[in-house]
Amino acid sequence: MGLGWKIFARPLISRLDSERSHDLALSTLSKFDKSQYGKSLLSGMFQSPELPIHVLGKLFHHPLGLAAGMDKGAKALSAWPALGFSWIEYGGVTRFPQEGNPKPRMFRANSERALVNSMGFNNPGASSIRDSLISRHSSGNWPNVPVAANIGRSKKVNNEQAPADYASTLDTLWNHADIFVLNVSSPNTPGLRDLQHEDTLSSVLRECTSIRNRYQSDKPILLKLSPDCTDEQVLQIADIAMSSGLDGIVATNTTITRPEPSNTQSRIAFSQNGGVSGRPLQKRSLEVISNLYDYTNGKMTIVGVGGIDSPDSAWNAITSGASLIQLYSGLVFNGPGVTSGIVRGLKRKVSENGFSGISEAIGYSHQ
Ligand code: FNR
Repeated sequence: MGLGWKIFARPLISRLDSERSHDLALSTLSKFDKSQYGKSLLSGMFQSPELPIHVLGKLFHHPLGLAAGMDKGAKALSAWPALGFSWIEYGGVTRFPQEGNPKPRMFRANSERALVNSMGFNNPGASSIRDSLISRHSSGNWPNVPVAANIGRSKKVNNEQAPADYASTLDTLWNHADIFVLNVSSPNTPGLRDLQHEDTLSSVLRECTSIRNRYQSDKPILLKLSPDCTDEQVLQIADIAMSSGLDGIVATNTTITRPEPSNTQSRIAFSQNGGVSGRPLQKRSLEVISNLYDYTNGKMTIVGVGGIDSPDSAWNAITSGASLIQLYSGLVFNGPGVTSGIVRGLKRKVSENGFSGISEAIGYSHQ
């Protein structure tokens, strides 16, 4: 995989500052995004097999998408399907442009296959992203897979103003995504996770669903949860989400808990502020998926994310109850072959289990 190595693995695994490596990989990929030839080249190497699934009123080529945070400004939107992803979540987007937290703010713990980040929603703001998406549409470079927008709270507003802040971003982006994810679970915006408490959460969700009503649309709106919620909180949030008319839950965001570091590099990474992603998140994400599936009797759509980096971890998320899955850290540590490798593995498991399709595997471990 010479080219794949050049795009991702080399910059990401090199000793460059982690954020610079990410920016380099993204800017290379955004060049491919603009070139039909470039995308065909990537597709030739990284295309995933078909493992179709119908979720949220849409047909996905397979369940595995790109998680939020990798393409915050939707700069390489059309290149991701060429790397084998069946759907893409851009953002987090906030109403106002933001610099994010001071650098350095992204660290690697290679032995644990974990990242620690405290980015803090660095993004050009909803209006600027909308404008670039309008140009993308008009130049005919819109990906032909479902696109989700991840929405966060602007740092400069407080939680009382949060419902209006989320609603404004949702309104701005309404025509520029197929699915919306309300992120009330990032650890890197002070006070954000307090939005998971009952009263504030209900008003955020009320404002957002009223935007949807105004558009007389049925585009799905999902809520993204923190893995650090207690089990009781998770179920309470599921109740609020369902009674507010939301369509599903994304489980989970990064965690503020820390695994035991196995060496100096990891010790340094884990001593930083921010959220841990990658393999150490796998166990708790699975628990949250499983609890949600049990509690809602499989009636609420669950998107599983957290430490998915192999066919087994993807299969576990699906059989625990996820209909769709996503990854971020797995791409950093395994390179771009990770996506097609996982989908090939899932396809094998579907046939080994004698299932007619991947839908039959959803929640299977609960039977
Ligand atoms: C993230 N994640 C994230 N999530 C979100 O809802 N909005 C965001 O803006 C971001 N930004 C972000 C930046 C960076 C650098 C990382 C590593 C992660 C969380 C991400 O979408 C996902 O939930 C977690 O990373 C867990 O998945 P993985 O990385 O273990 O596959």
